[in-house]
Amino acid sequence: MEQRLVELQQEALEGIKKATDLKELNDIRVSYLGKKGPITEVLKGMGKLSAEERPKMGALANEVRDVIAQAIEEKQSILEEEAVAKKLASETIDVTLPGRQVKTGNHHPLTRIIEEIEDLFIGMGYTIAEGPEVESDYYNFEALNLPKGHPARDMQDSFYITEELLLRTHTSPMQARTMEKQNGKGPVKIICPGKVYRRDNDDATHSHQFMQIEGLVVDENIQMSDLKGTLDVFAKKMFGEDREIRLRPSFFPFTEPSVEMDISCKICSGKGCNVCKGTGWIEVLGAGMVHPNVLEMAGYDSKKYTGFAFGIGSERIAMLKYGIDDIRHYYTNDVRFLKQFSIHE
Ligand code: PHE
Repeated sequence: MEQRLVELQQEALEGIKKATDLKELNDIRVSYLGKKGPITEVLKGMGKLSAEERPKMGALANEVRDVIAQAIEEKQSILEEEAVAKKLASETIDVTLPGRQVKTGNHHPLTRIIEEIEDLFIGMGYTIAEGPEVESDYYNFEALNLPKGHPARDMQDSFYITEELLLRTHTSPMQARTMEKQNGKGPVKIICPGKVYRRDNDDATHSHQFMQIEGLVVDENIQMSDLKGTLDVFAKKMFGEDREIRLRPSFFPFTEPSVEMDISCKICSGKGCNVCKGTGWIEVLGAGMVHPNVLEMAGYDSKKYTGFAFGIGSERIAMLKYGIDDIRHYYTNDVRFLKQFSIHE
């Protein structure tokens, strides 16, 4: 029996020495020290021993068990350390590798110009209103003093969805919608940026979809000079303090009088060049005093209240400001074009 125990110890120690991973070591623990292991087996034979041999053998069996258990424990910590070292080695970071390049996007030039214009008007006390792109004939035309059959409807070729519904041809319907909500009372001071649609053939200066920013101010005693002052601030902030504006008489059914605003050409300082077609002036936007009919239809007393409105073409402003020569650049998503407006470079 003694012999068997010594053999077992040797065998086990050998196995432990050879074990290369924690699983193998655990298998050895189970097979030698487990309840069904060989040591337990040997101890079962103790009954056959004499009374003085029994304690000796018991002590030896315990010793063998302790030796094996200790050897397993030692090996276990070695294997564990090895495993950690291996893991660390496999996860080493090579700090000399070049970093991955992070490509930052940038705002679309139209987004930039719209945000700039919004900020400017918010600074002057305006709030931003947004309205539907699918608009009723009533708001797009009728409420703006363009009854059915009015020849001025031809100024804006339209995409109709049904007889009464169309893709809005301008942001002016928001004039009527905003005033209507006020129930004929109190001041209005809004700008409304958004997409508009016209049945135009696309070319360098036309697009069937483009963006406008509508402006509307209604209150008691609003005068043409208020409009002119506002547009002057707008032109100087957008294009430079040295720019002049001029208002030319024009026609819109929803404003009376109506004007078109030009700014002085920066390129030739008013002498005349290609950009301003020799006139020294560049056409920028349409505006005017809100027509009394429009005020009345929206529920305002046109004897008490007056107002002005303007419609800015966002693409046109960005074209003038950034020197863009073709409106189609905005919509074709050529990154070489778009990257030029990054503020990160
Ligand atoms: N809605 C007009 C257009 O699209 C522009 C405009 C707006 C004119 C407001 C006067 C007042 O052409």
